[in-house]
Amino acid sequence: MARTSAVAADPAAPLLLFDSGVGGLSVLAKVRKLLPQAPVIYAADNAGLPYGDKTEAQIAARVSGLLGRMTERFRPRLVCIACNTASTIALASVREVLEVPIVGTVPAIKPAAAMTRTGVIGLLGTAATIRQGYVDRLEAEFAADKLLLRHGAPELVAAAEAKLRGEAVDPEVYTRAAAALRAMPGGERIDTVVLACTHFPLVQDELAQAFGPDVRFIDGSDGIARRIAALTQGQDWRRDAPDLALFTRADDSITGLSGALAAHGLARVAVF
Ligand code: DGL
Repeated sequence: MARTSAVAADPAAPLLLFDSGVGGLSVLAKVRKLLPQAPVIYAADNAGLPYGDKTEAQIAARVSGLLGRMTERFRPRLVCIACNTASTIALASVREVLEVPIVGTVPAIKPAAAMTRTGVIGLLGTAATIRQGYVDRLEAEFAADKLLLRHGAPELVAAAEAKLRGEAVDPEVYTRAAAALRAMPGGERIDTVVLACTHFPLVQDELAQAFGPDVRFIDGSDGIARRIAALTQGQDWRRDAPDLALFTRADDSITGLSGALAAHGLARVAVF
């Protein structure tokens, strides 16, 4: 269980959203709708991107270390790990060490199981996410009577990053992801696709083109936003400075992201 506190001591204490890159912006967009008054720090571990091809030990060490240091420095009232890969691997260990409520990102298998009519669900995630026992447990608990087909699609992470930098992306990337799921036994009956990586809702329109009109998509962002709103209910908010985007490495790609960051209300950029 996340620790809750009815009233955060400092009304200027921010929400800290964390991802390997821009994926968590898909979560931030939903949080903004429910809590427009909340000061936000959005942290992207671009020095560690992509997480999806790293080992469990590498991801757990990076995420715990960075969140420990960021929490000490910025004193957030709540941390959201806006990344399925980091959450499915490191959520429990991060909760053990941080004295702040932590909201994680869980692949939306439960709502997908309620949505599907054919009983066949596709799941797109990173390679690291789709092999997690966490996903096995969600499948066993909520989709035991369904067929869940998983595909690791690292190309979509790069595509979402490129799209938000305003770069052209080869549409084949999306076609390949759809074709990989369709090619699995039973894949032709997929009617629901879980976007189990926070980068993927950023390219949902492109994926919808690739899958065709009979497929619906679901991701965890609405549930996360509701959970954050519930955990901070009754708290006061004060924004003392424009919201901040933090990156773990200064590189040229940050400049290309300035439009996307501004569109998500992140007017300042810093390197952590
Ligand atoms: N956005 C991350 C997720 O939700 C992962 C992207 C990556 O670093 O591979 O899984």
